Amino acid sequence: MREIGAIIFDLDGVITDTAEYHYLAWKQLAEELGVHFDRAFNERLKGVSRMDSLHMILNHGGIVLSEHEMNELAHKKNEHYKTFIQQITPDDLLPGIVPFLNEIKAAEIPTALASASKNARPVIRQLKIESYLDTIVDAATVKNGKPDPEIFLKAANQLAVNPEECVGVEDAEAGVESIKAAGMYAVGLGSKKAMAKADWIIDHPSQLTLKALRGHIG
Ligand code: BG6
Ligand code: MG
Repeated sequence: MREIGAIIFDLDGVITDTAEYHYLAWKQLAEELGVHFDRAFNERLKGVSRMDSLHMILNHGGIVLSEHEMNELAHKKNEHYKTFIQQITPDDLLPGIVPFLNEIKAAEIPTALASASKNARPVIRQLKIESYLDTIVDAATVKNGKPDPEIFLKAANQLAVNPEECVGVEDAEAGVESIKAAGMYAVGLGSKKAMAKADWIIDHPSQLTLKALRGHIG
């Protein structure tokens, strides 16, 4: 990559700590179903769509349900999740994110949001960061969820930037796989184990600066 053409962000767990709210909402549902649920299992759900996450929990517990029952459970989890996100304000932006977004804006590098969440737009509005994002890929319009590259490729396409010139920022294993499958440079936020496939692993968003990023891209 000669120059960074665009930076594409995941939302939950990267820009704000909604990954924790997804975890708590799934944990409550799993426990109601009598399915063992811990943070190690939750790592596999990060970045994964609502329905695919539910399928994984049910498989894990050996539970078979009708489509109607599954829709009801997915709805229930989302209602629980929505009570958490109601309270989100700009104070919930993870430290380091706003300075990085300001730096990107000053450098005139286009940005996109590639979130698997159908709640992404209200969260972005509550965080008051719409003006920093040039485009948002609507999760509802993506056929194949992460780890498929579709969502990151669609973001690059909406920005009219070549995927090879894009940097993706993710906290999910499925997300890093999606970025790499799209042919992009992957920044992984999280443990060395979970982020093993990322090109640059960070443990906090405050490590994100253009200087550090360019240094790692080389
Ligand atoms: C991703 C989260 O961003 O969105 C997942 O990492 C979540 O945990 C997925 O399941 C779908 O979110 P939602 O809000 O559409 O249920
Ligand atoms: Mg995430």
